[in-house]
Order: sequence, then C-alpha cells, then structure tokens
Amino acid sequence: MPDATVTAGEDHVARAARAVPRDHYIGHPRLGAVPQATAQGAIERDLRRANVRPGHKILEIGTGTGLTGALLAELTGPSGHVVSVDIDPGLIRRAHALHAERHVRNITLVTGDGNKGAPGHGPFDVIIAWATPTVIPRAWLDQAGPGARICAPVYYAQTTRASAHVRATVTASGGLDAITLGPASYVDMGGEVNTNFTVPMFYIDAVRSSGGRPSWISVAWRGRHPGHDPQRALEMLAEPGHREPRPLAPDTAGHRQAWRDFRAYCAALDHGSNLTSHGTPDGGNAIGFSSGNNAAVLTDVGTILASTAASPALAKLRDRLDDWENAGRPGLSTLNATAQDKDGDLVIRLALPRTEHRKIRPT
Ligand SMILES: C[S@@+](CC[C@H](N)C(=O)[O-])C[C@H]1O[C@@H](n2cnc3c(N)ncnc32)[C@H](O)[C@@H]1O
Repeated sequence: MPDATVTAGEDHVARAARAVPRDHYIGHPRLGAVPQATAQGAIERDLRRANVRPGHKILEIGTGTGLTGALLAELTGPSGHVVSVDIDPGLIRRAHALHAERHVRNITLVTGDGNKGAPGHGPFDVIIAWATPTVIPRAWLDQAGPGARICAPVYYAQTTRASAHVRATVTASGGLDAITLGPASYVDMGGEVNTNFTVPMFYIDAVRSSGGRPSWISVAWRGRHPGHDPQRALEMLAEPGHREPRPLAPDTAGHRQAWRDFRAYCAALDHGSNLTSHGTPDGGNAIGFSSGNNAAVLTDVGTILASTAASPALAKLRDRLDDWENAGRPGLSTLNATAQDKDGDLVIRLALPRTEHRKIRPT
C-alpha cells in the first residue's frame, strides 16, 4: 500500500517513491512485466539530478513500465504535467491502463520517436530521458522553455556504450550551460522498437556469434583505415593471445565504477582515434584500443584481453592506465564536458581539466 505520510529526513524523491507502488508498474498481476525495467536506485539517482519541483511541465522520453512517469507525476503534483513518449505503442497502451487504475490525471502518453521530443506539447521545464541518443537533438532544445533542464544519458564518443548521464541548463540562445556528468547505462534511443537487447543499436562495427552468444566490437577508427577490418580485431579479442588481471578496485562494484571513469578518460583523450569498445559473449563490456592488426581491452570485471603480449594496443592500454592513475583517476565527476553544434544537434564531448594535460605522454 503506497504511503504518503511525511518521514523526517526524507527528500522529495524518497517521498515520491514511497507514494508510488513500484509493483503496480513492474509486475502487474494482469498486465505482467516488461523486459526493460530500470533499477529503483538508478531511477531515484537520476530523478534527484532532474530536481523536479511542483508545477513543472516535464517531457519524459522512454515511458517503459510507466513507473518513472508516475514518479514524475507525483513530483510535479496537480499543478504540473508530464508528457511521456515511448517508441513502443504496446508499452504506451500498458502504461495508460496502469495510470488509469491509479487515477493519475496529470500525465499524457504519446507514441513516437523521442529523438523528436513531443511536438506541439512544449515548452517544457524539464526534459528527462531513460534511453541514450548519440546527440542532444535540436527538437529537445526547441521544445525547452527558458532555463529548462535536460537530464539524459548521451553518447560522448563514437564507440558503443560510451555514454554518461548529462545534466544541463538550456540557454536563451538554444545552447547548453552548466553541464555535469553522472553514471548511466540505458538502452540506445534508436528510431525503432528494439527487439534485440544483446547487441546495442549504435556504432556496432562487427558482430560474432559463439554458441549462440554474440560478442561485438565498436571502433572509433571506422572508415579511416582502408584494409583494416574491425571483424579481425573482434576475432583477436574473442581468442586473445594474452590475458592479465588488472582490477581497478578490490571488489567488482568498485572496479566497474572506476572502469567507467577510465573509459571516459580514454574518450577525453582519444575520441576520433583508435578507441575501441567490446561486448564480451557473457554480456560484459570492455574498453581499449585496436587497429586491424592488434587489439587490447580492459573488461568491466578487471581482465585485460590482448591479441598478443607484444601488441602496440596493449602497450598503449597499459600507458593509459598508468597515466590515469598518475593523474588521480579523473572521471565523470572531474572531466569537462562541452556541447558542440553538429547540424543543429548538440554533440557531447569530454576533455581533461586544463591542469591535467601536462601529465599525459604523447601517443
Ligand atoms: C530503460 S527503458 C525505460 C524505463 C522506464 N523509464 C521505466 O522505469 O520503466 C527505455 C525505454 O525507452 C524506450 N525507447 C527506446 N528508444 C526510444 C525512442 N527512440 N523514442 C522513445 N522511446 C524509446 C524503450 O521502448 C523503453 O521503454
């Protein structure tokens, strides 16, 4: 039974979470579950970053189970409104029925491609997304009211899953100000309903299947080195000639967090060069460097996989790890993020704080 009483020390998000019954949306007895429910901790973390207040008009992209829309409706209250968009009409129908059962009236559900926002429904005070676009679309900026906040996972490099949670304020001229970064791992915001959750939608350069389990590679050098084949780099990682442990923390959760920072650091230095993302057959992720001749990556469970012990990619990966350690492990909370115009959309790119540049050895 949801509880709307006030508890000392609780913030607005914790109060909303107590007032909205998660089970109603996640595992409804008649309408069942959906494959992509976001973990409660990640939802609350990102809602805190959005800082929704009563009366806000909110655009939500990625309705999913309907839970986050219900939380946003609770946070903005009867004087505000939520417009929630999902590309999947089945999810919109399901969420509609679930909101109606609870008599939630301050939410409008729209089937559509969230990359286009919700034309005709703005302007919005807050735009919050639960799926990852490669850029911040111009449509969002056009539908944002003055000083609106955008909170969304966004790619920061052209390699698969190289994304972070971006929180920023829309400026009067339609740019972004006060950008901060946080962790995020949400599905890609493609232009169609996703039915394959094992291979991401963006920047995949080669896929391999072994015993029905896919692995993939994503290389920032695509199209720049004729004769170099990403499939070959993937084959080298699938059957690596060299492995070594390289945990970045004593436990897996700590390693994953540090690994995410290391990935962002590599992107800050290497976007556009030979940065490489790899998806392992067991569903893990890895980051490193490759060419058509050699490859080396660090997995998110703390193992380096390399084509050979003498590969230049392995030497570069080790150098990068050492530089990152020496620089004090810069990551999402310390790297600078910029928004650059690209045909009207805004591309997010990372850079080292100025003082760190001196410590990096040339490549
Ligand atoms: C992680 S789930 C959303 C979770 C949801 N907020 C919840 O808590 O249940 C991501 C959602 O984004 C939707 N999505 C993916 N691409 C989209 C797009 N281009 N436009 C709108 N929605 C999209 C998916 O259909 C999916 O429902």
